Amino acid sequence: MLPAVAAVSSAVAELVAACVAEPHPVIGLATGATMASVDDALIARHRRGLSLAGVTAFLLDEYLGLPLGDERSFRSEVQRRLVEPTDLPAERVAAPPVERPDRAGIGPSYEAQIRAAGGIDLQLLGIGRNGHIGFNEPGSSPTSRTRVVDLTPSTRAANGLDRMADGPRQAVTMGLGTILEARSIVLVATGAHKAETVARAVAGPVDPSCPASVLQQHPRCQVVLDASAAAGLAP
Ligand code: GLP
Repeated sequence: MLPAVAAVSSAVAELVAACVAEPHPVIGLATGATMASVDDALIARHRRGLSLAGVTAFLLDEYLGLPLGDERSFRSEVQRRLVEPTDLPAERVAAPPVERPDRAGIGPSYEAQIRAAGGIDLQLLGIGRNGHIGFNEPGSSPTSRTRVVDLTPSTRAANGLDRMADGPRQAVTMGLGTILEARSIVLVATGAHKAETVARAVAGPVDPSCPASVLQQHPRCQVVLDASAAAGLAP
């Protein structure tokens, strides 16, 4: 637990830097407000000499049904927030192939791509208020694979999609089983609005009603929190 968001973000950037120092680093990237601060810390770290030129990256999830290049897509978000301000090569950032017409093929082909890269060394994760990781909403199986999912009303509201006429209703997410195959995982949460969810995920029972709780079963999962997000945990 760290006192403030900036300390959390720079601690996570250091974990990424340590991974990047290894040969052929493969990093799982997440999006969202929490990760925006981590991206800022990575940009700062890049300005102090960290190169992301050798990184292969896989996006954790992506909306389904947006036109190619739509600025709301997670691919565009990562392009703006990380690719343009650093030396992370755009061609080495993979996203779930949401443009494939055969929906059933999206997950298996993305997983084959991850396997071909040697698997993920470090998976970054935020957490939704309902305990989702990626878009694995409550009820997701701990062995679920990359697939098309329906977004819950609460997730659509949290991500501002319910205020858009054409806001996506579905997404592709790495499954919980896929995420658990990463060699190491860093779950990041900041802010008082995440405290109750963090307490359930970290200290509650491992239960599909809180998908992030499956991370308790991962041998190398670190949870990086600010004081507000850690408020529901015993000191
Ligand atoms: C989205 C993403 C998740 C992310 C979560 C939390 O729904 N699919 O990967 O972890 O929201 O986002 P935020 O950091 O904005 O609270």
